[in-house]
Amino acid sequence: MKIEVVQGNIAEREDAAVEVNLFEGVTHPSGATGAMDSALDGAISGLIADGDVKAGRGEHALIYTLGKAPAKRVVVSGLGDGDDFDANAAREVHAGTARFMRSKGLAQYSTVLHGAGIGGLDVYQCARAAAEGMLLGAYSFDKYKSDPKPDPLESVSIIEFDPARIPEIERGAADGIVVADAVNLARDMCNEPANYMTPTQMAEIALEVASESGGVTLAVFDRADIERMGMGAFAGVAQGTDEPPKLIVLRYEGDPDNPANNLGLLGKGITFDSGGLDIKSAAGMLTMKSDMSGGASVIAAMKAIAALRPKINVWGIVPATENMPGRRAQRPGDVVRAMNGKTIEIGNTDAEGRLVLADAVCYAVQNGLTRIVDVATLTGAVRIALGDGATGVFGNDQRWLERVIAAGESVGERLWQLPADDSYKRQYKSDIADMNNVGGSGAGATIGALVIGEFAGESQWAHLDIAATARTTRDSGINPKGATGVPVRTLIQLAQTLAGG
Ligand code: BES
Ligand code: ZN
Ligand code: MN
Repeated sequence: MKIEVVQGNIAEREDAAVEVNLFEGVTHPSGATGAMDSALDGAISGLIADGDVKAGRGEHALIYTLGKAPAKRVVVSGLGDGDDFDANAAREVHAGTARFMRSKGLAQYSTVLHGAGIGGLDVYQCARAAAEGMLLGAYSFDKYKSDPKPDPLESVSIIEFDPARIPEIERGAADGIVVADAVNLARDMCNEPANYMTPTQMAEIALEVASESGGVTLAVFDRADIERMGMGAFAGVAQGTDEPPKLIVLRYEGDPDNPANNLGLLGKGITFDSGGLDIKSAAGMLTMKSDMSGGASVIAAMKAIAALRPKINVWGIVPATENMPGRRAQRPGDVVRAMNGKTIEIGNTDAEGRLVLADAVCYAVQNGLTRIVDVATLTGAVRIALGDGATGVFGNDQRWLERVIAAGESVGERLWQLPADDSYKRQYKSDIADMNNVGGSGAGATIGALVIGEFAGESQWAHLDIAATARTTRDSGINPKGATGVPVRTLIQLAQTLAGG
């Protein structure tokens, strides 16, 4: 789908459809909606009075202009209450509209920026939210359909009357396209089946990210390298499969003279989680192709960061492997040694995410990264705690966590902090090793986080458990059913705010 920014009057557009909007409580619209209302001899205000055009957020009313305006149709989108309308709401409305227009079979429409008029929002933010919303809402994954329904929607024009605003809108739309393309890359990777999205394929996509952006370097380590570097926790998980594991390391240097200005993004890359010898049930295994969502979000965020060029050094580190019960698979009760020398008893082979991330965190710390965020579909327990309404966040430094949470908040990806203090440590004590990888009953998401945190040393570290937010079972807001691409936008935003841009 193509997005263009055009200076002009939306009431004069000769499109298949033009979209205007309406806040709750408005009976006689002004601005673009008012211009369209006048062109239609007051038809929109009449329909508002009759209750046929509703202003609730997510409502769409389709009106045929029947020759009274150059456009064939007008769609009035409800924006809801003006008091809580922000860029996140604008993104959702634009997403809903894109799906609505597509459901009507339209190839093209024009729209205005929601919220930039009487909403009073920042024009750049509105334009970015518009581009993101349209591209995220219109996403679909139909690669494996032999006879895919062609997507009718080819292009959307953002119309702005005020020429002075055009440069900001163009900048916002361009950045929005970069961000949405990254989220959709993560979604594609997660929606792919595990027989295609192997660790090798993830490394292949990382190579594309590195080669198309110029400013990013890539290193990929194989099974022998992983063992040689002493990553025994990662290697232990990978020994149950013949599928070659990969440690994928993408590096973006936006502030090469200032190594303290760094950010490590780490993502769990389990391309299929069978549970290992502690094998999962059929129902529990069904969606485990997306157990690499954290890794996908990191690779995708690196793609956007490379394009947006914030002044900060960012590493993307993805330990990728299957977790399978092959004949060499690690056994419950085995003890493995992570890269920093700490030993872990395997209480459950299905708690593999924390094992691969333990070594990824060691690798980040050893390479001088002092600010770390790991992203993982780590525990079923986080769904029990938070449902799919928020990603669980844990860490060892409250100020760091607050920056991460604020980045998520500002892009509409909700993060909710759960405890990760020392009082829980007794739960995963081992009789024979430095720790166990599981912690008995209770606080499952916290225990998973704390095991990873054991390897963070002095670095500021945050852990995002996306087990319940990486996929959705229904179309809602900007997310069509399937992989959501959470938390790609948070990671990009974090890099941008840390860089001060
Ligand atoms: N990948 C799973 C967690 C998961 C569950 C993600 C459901 C998405 C949806 C993880 O590797 C796992 O199996 N965790 C175990 C940990 C347990 C053995 C301590 C779990 O949550 O049951
Ligand atoms: Zn897993
Ligand atoms: Mn598991």
